[in-house]
Amino acid sequence: MWISFAGIITNYKDVKQFLVQKGHKFRSDTDTEIIAKLIKHIHGLHPNYSFRELVEQVIQQLEGAFALCFKSMHFPGEVVATRRGSPLLVGIKTKTKLATDHIPILYSKDSPEKVELKDTQSDHRPHGHEIPAHGLARSQSTSEFLPQGDNKEVEYFFASDASAIIEHTDRVIYLLDDDVASVEKEGVLKIHRLKRTLEDTHAREITTLKMEIQQIMKGNFSSFMQKEIFEQPESVVTTMRGRINFDSETVVLGGIKDYIGEIRRCRRLLLIACGTSYNSAIATRQLLEELTELPVMVDLASDFLDRNTPIFRDDVCFFISQSGETADTLMALRYCKQRGALIVGITNTVGSSICRESHCGVHINAGPEIGVASTKAYTSQIISLVMFALMVSEDRISAQPRRSEIIQGLRNLPDQIKEVLELDSKIQEISKKVFEKKSLLVLGRGYNYATCLEGALKIKEITYMHSEGILAGELKHGPLALVDKGMPIIMICTRDNVFVKCMNALQQVTAREGRPILICHKNDQEPQKYGSSVLEVPKTVDCLQGILTVIPLQLVSYHVAVLKGCNVDCPRNLAKSVTVE
Ligand code: UD1
Ligand code: MG
Repeated sequence: MWISFAGIITNYKDVKQFLVQKGHKFRSDTDTEIIAKLIKHIHGLHPNYSFRELVEQVIQQLEGAFALCFKSMHFPGEVVATRRGSPLLVGIKTKTKLATDHIPILYSKDSPEKVELKDTQSDHRPHGHEIPAHGLARSQSTSEFLPQGDNKEVEYFFASDASAIIEHTDRVIYLLDDDVASVEKEGVLKIHRLKRTLEDTHAREITTLKMEIQQIMKGNFSSFMQKEIFEQPESVVTTMRGRINFDSETVVLGGIKDYIGEIRRCRRLLLIACGTSYNSAIATRQLLEELTELPVMVDLASDFLDRNTPIFRDDVCFFISQSGETADTLMALRYCKQRGALIVGITNTVGSSICRESHCGVHINAGPEIGVASTKAYTSQIISLVMFALMVSEDRISAQPRRSEIIQGLRNLPDQIKEVLELDSKIQEISKKVFEKKSLLVLGRGYNYATCLEGALKIKEITYMHSEGILAGELKHGPLALVDKGMPIIMICTRDNVFVKCMNALQQVTAREGRPILICHKNDQEPQKYGSSVLEVPKTVDCLQGILTVIPLQLVSYHVAVLKGCNVDCPRNLAKSVTVE
């Protein structure tokens, strides 16, 4: 049995308990497995049911919101798909025209009896006949939507979103709740419903998608960058999926686990990257030092190569790149590999050059990033490196409280990111005040320093405004001279071990009549009284705070770019992956 499942089964514990009583053994704790076992159970009771009838029985037992697609070795060449509460569509691809633009719905003659899960003896065959709406004869109704002409080849695609199939076909049927679509022998597609209801339309229309691929993929957002910023509550989850067990507080990166022993014994860790990926290395350096107790070097790939940096066999070198193709990073990789170091890739692109040429690595699984300015890849790179630090320190008893605090912080991150995204309209208002200015300084220190660099990079990249990320500790060594009442400043000041020092820098700024926009913790009164406006973010563990403070800056850069009329997804002079020198 092969099942593709999206959604949630709310009564899954009850169903599982029932199936366990019936002697079914479970290998996982997933919703998907109870569906597979349930259909197997019903098949055992009613071996004469068709595949579609089995699925109809299964969904009558399920509560929740789901989209499901079934295949089985007992029913070769057949697929059954159904939905309730979650979206599902069928794409149809043929060589020749379709004879019709709708598919009639078939209803069961008698309202089928739901198999009582408790009553294992009953074997009602629910419905031997099916009658289509409009009283069409069955043969007539089914042959109608086969392709016309000589070539009867037909392909069906099942997906929750048109963007997944648009490259194959532009003809789709949107299924409604409790529709059961089945592809049967000879490629005939049928749509069944158990009961006829008054509001039923008797047919499902085959719609032709008119939108461009890009437009469909963008959904309701005006640009990919905006879409990708708002995707972060989900993309951070996919980065962690299957890798962190929040209950047992264990982390396993499948791509690295066999190398952990070697990594623990190494001389030092080097993190080598460019641009945003470099900032993700800055963001995690302190935690890597803390949890691995190894010296950690962070380098820009181009500078690393310029210096002919000495590299040794017992070095472990990380190469971070969203695309996995960044030329400078790739050349630095080859340089280190030649010298015998262990090469670890951190990439978002399966099969990319960095992925292939590295000894091992982690796919950050953030999903495709199309906007040139990286957003969700940055937060997922940070999480990947944090997971690496957690895995290396697994055997250190003294690190357990810290590990546990971070793992619980990761668990709460998606909801906290949603909370930060709610600042969007406030950030848009703030952007109106700064978009015509010449320059924007971003100040902070400690774990928020990377956020300053990354925020300033985003602003430069897509708004063409000068912006600089400044380590607050460096203020009095020069940058303070820039500060006056006309200079726009954003300052990050969260409660961590450098909070007092940050407050100090804040006072130096306000003493020179600077009125910074503050990013600080929710309800933290102390820094707020110094700000011209305040963006409050939820508090998390210090080493994850940068994820929550960078998102407001991603949004600032986005809104400033829109206000200035810039092309957010394709900034001038820049390309998504820099693959040439
Ligand atoms: C892998 C599968 C994932 C599956 C999971 C189940 C892939 C791409 N990933 O994920 O679909 O759900 O097992 O256990 O098939 N690698 C490099 N360099 C890089 C990145 C990765 O060499 O820059 C290597 C890794 O060492 C590993 C492989 O690529 O051998 C896959 O990496 P990753 O996807 O991160 O592994 P898993 O999370 O285990
Ligand atoms: Mg590899």
